[in-house]
Amino acid sequence: MELAQAARSQWKSRLGAVLAAAGSAVGLGNIWKFPYLVGANGGAAFVLLYLAFVLLIGIPLIMTEFVVGRKTTRNPVGAFRELAPGTAWVIPGISGVVAGFLILSFYSVVAGWVLRYAVTSLLGALSGLNPEGAAALFTEFIGGTWAPLFWHLLFMALTVYIVAAGVQEGIEKWSKILMPGLFILVIILVIRSLTLPGSHPGIAYYLQPDFSALTGKSVLAALGQMFFSLSLGMGCMITYGSYISRQDSLVKTAGQVGLIDTLVALLAGLVIFPAAFAFGIEPGAGPGLVFITLPAIFAQMPLGQFFACLFFLLLAIAALTSSISLLETVVAYFVDEKDWGRRQTAVVWGGLAFLAGIPSALSQGAVNLTVFGLSFLDAVDYLTSNILLPLGGLLTALFVGWRMRQEDVLAEALQGGGMTTGMAQVWYFLVRTIAPLAIGLIFANAIGLF
Ligand code: PHE
Repeated sequence: MELAQAARSQWKSRLGAVLAAAGSAVGLGNIWKFPYLVGANGGAAFVLLYLAFVLLIGIPLIMTEFVVGRKTTRNPVGAFRELAPGTAWVIPGISGVVAGFLILSFYSVVAGWVLRYAVTSLLGALSGLNPEGAAALFTEFIGGTWAPLFWHLLFMALTVYIVAAGVQEGIEKWSKILMPGLFILVIILVIRSLTLPGSHPGIAYYLQPDFSALTGKSVLAALGQMFFSLSLGMGCMITYGSYISRQDSLVKTAGQVGLIDTLVALLAGLVIFPAAFAFGIEPGAGPGLVFITLPAIFAQMPLGQFFACLFFLLLAIAALTSSISLLETVVAYFVDEKDWGRRQTAVVWGGLAFLAGIPSALSQGAVNLTVFGLSFLDAVDYLTSNILLPLGGLLTALFVGWRMRQEDVLAEALQGGGMTTGMAQVWYFLVRTIAPLAIGLIFANAIGLF
């Protein structure tokens, strides 16, 4: 049965919709990427900017994608096609499919690192590591050839299996139990981290803004991270919105997804920075920050290896609910628009994403693969998060704000309740004017136009 055809499936409840969309949003973006970006971009000022973007652009855009999805009940490309037939407005739909594929290629590499840490901690290899040992272990592992490829392959195979068999629902049921588990574990880690001797400078670094640390590049990084973390700008939320019942409030759903995702990211920072300062780990250490800091924390905990294994396992599952949504976006396009079979599409495009991820997997030391001074993995991440996703978001906002009829947009937004007409007007203004302007200005600033 094809998901998006006639008897289209729907979330059974609004809670189901929130959890599924939050499953896509919460992942490596919150726990791996957010802390290292904060560290690389000067700390608290970046955090504040990020929060402002979530409120003014992110949550309104989740709502926007929901409106497009629920109004058309189609995949992103089909949705734009239906609303503006025969025009260039399919571009944001297509660019979303491309972005989903490219993100999946490197996402699976990093998720592979997480899987390998789950197994390694089970075997006791993380036990008693000091920060230097943790750093050495990480560098040696990601700089290898076969190990990173193996874990990348394993993670991609899991993603493909779930999407091909169409058993996402099973995973979502599980993650209803497992994700609160991850949340509780993160809270335990926050407490451990905050009570480490010497952790206080880390709290100040994380919470006391120094705006002079912000550059045009870090403003773009905050914007890109907001898009990446909320799964925005590539039609993922259009797809999820297309499954939301017309009886359910879109604004409540969008708000809750934004809130959950942001809370997890903020808590992850509260784990990493106090501990990093306590252990003398450089906060700007880059993509390895979390993989070095966490084992050092676990080494300072009773039952540390048990907690480490549990944590990395739950994180891998959080990553899986995100990678499923990435592959699903690609698959839904070929299934709906090109009449491909679901199984074949998942295997073919998952396989291609694995191949496309090989240079990313090897770019961490095995081979010297840099693009514009970034490792291949970081370059694909940069291209998607900082360029393709914000561009997709910009076009979607312009489409809903200027191309669709205002009455239709507002009627769909209000359908299901949760919002007064006044609030809907504010949202519409944010989408039509503020979001496109802000994204445009940040782009212009980052390429040095000012
Ligand atoms: N939001 C996911 C995360 O933070 C990544 C993602 C991006 C998933 C875009 C889907 C679409 O880990």
